[in-house]
Amino acid sequence: MAGSVTVNAQVEAVVDLDAIAHNVRILREHAGDAAVMAVVKADGYNHGAVEVGRAALAAGAAELGVTTVGEAMTLRQAGITAPILCWLNNADADFAAAIAADIEIGVSSLKHLRAVEQAARTVGRPATVTLKVDTGLHRNGIAPDEYPQVLAALEKLVPEGAMRLRAIFSHLAHADEPEHPFLDVQRDRFVEAIAAAKTYGLEPELVHLANSAATLTRPDLAFDLVRPGIAMYGLSPIPEDFGLRPAMTLQARVALVKPVAAGEGVSYGHQWIAPHDTTVALIPAGYADGVFRPLSNRFEVWLGGARRRNVGRVCMDQFVVDLGDNAAGVAEGDTAVLFGSGGPHPQEWADLLDTIHYEVVCAPRGRVVRRHVGAGAQ
Ligand SMILES: Cc1ncc(COP(=O)(O)O)c(C=O)c1O
Repeated sequence: MAGSVTVNAQVEAVVDLDAIAHNVRILREHAGDAAVMAVVKADGYNHGAVEVGRAALAAGAAELGVTTVGEAMTLRQAGITAPILCWLNNADADFAAAIAADIEIGVSSLKHLRAVEQAARTVGRPATVTLKVDTGLHRNGIAPDEYPQVLAALEKLVPEGAMRLRAIFSHLAHADEPEHPFLDVQRDRFVEAIAAAKTYGLEPELVHLANSAATLTRPDLAFDLVRPGIAMYGLSPIPEDFGLRPAMTLQARVALVKPVAAGEGVSYGHQWIAPHDTTVALIPAGYADGVFRPLSNRFEVWLGGARRRNVGRVCMDQFVVDLGDNAAGVAEGDTAVLFGSGGPHPQEWADLLDTIHYEVVCAPRGRVVRRHVGAGAQ
């Protein structure tokens, strides 16, 4: 997505930093005594990691979480001094740069640990590491078989001063089903992993397990810190209203308004034939901008004070909406809201596409210009 503000942008993702702050405050209330790590990976779920990170910290988040060293470096280079954890790197990542920039490194294997050790020796500074333990998601995280070897290695590295063990953490498989019994299985395995570390004389400064869904529904899993992502962007991970405010609005300005006669087809393949004389508006956004082609003929935008249905195929750069007799007087330059403030909720797209709203807000890209509004926006 284009990062800078362009005058007269055709398609914009407007990100409301006041909504981010509001959502962080809600998450802090649910977190109780636990601190909040704002998850801003994937460029802040496509909302802008630096801007969202700053807004979240100003609203009371204590730390930031990302996946890669590169993402963490971007935040540091923007002048953010808060603790930053990155937890998903190949073993040949630039750990030396991370150590030099005081970035906490999540370790998921003995190989990772050795690579971080090597980097610490090269830089001549202790590495701050956090162990990611696999408690049953079987994705990223130290496998149970390998865990004793990692602990045995750290048992030597920590006293020697080559490493500081900041935290132990894990990630849940069923957090969006708060009653699922596997949450308790993972909690028990997590507690065992912390106890195992203690038998090697390793005392993490903090331990953490909860993402958004667990933060909002399972206070018993809050431990010392919670790691919400999606809820901070205002999207609820479960069908319950927590008072969150969606932060992103995808909008575009009408490029053309014109009549279409009854019987004429619209867009590639003429998948829609006008049933009567009508008026259509051309919206200059397509699948190259993140408007999924399978939405064709199925979704609506907010335009001219009403919902207007897309007719015909969504193309690479454009789609068309039906205005009927255009009694509302929609004109070129008017703003159509594709999702977000005043328009459809991202969940509507998710339902039509058989996906989750996470993917919907991650979709706008390419020519879409991101613009931040609210306190802290430049
Ligand atoms: C390790 C970890 N913690 C926290 C999160 C945040 O999850 P959510 O966006 O569901 O709150 C993620 C996201 O995938 C993650 O990978």
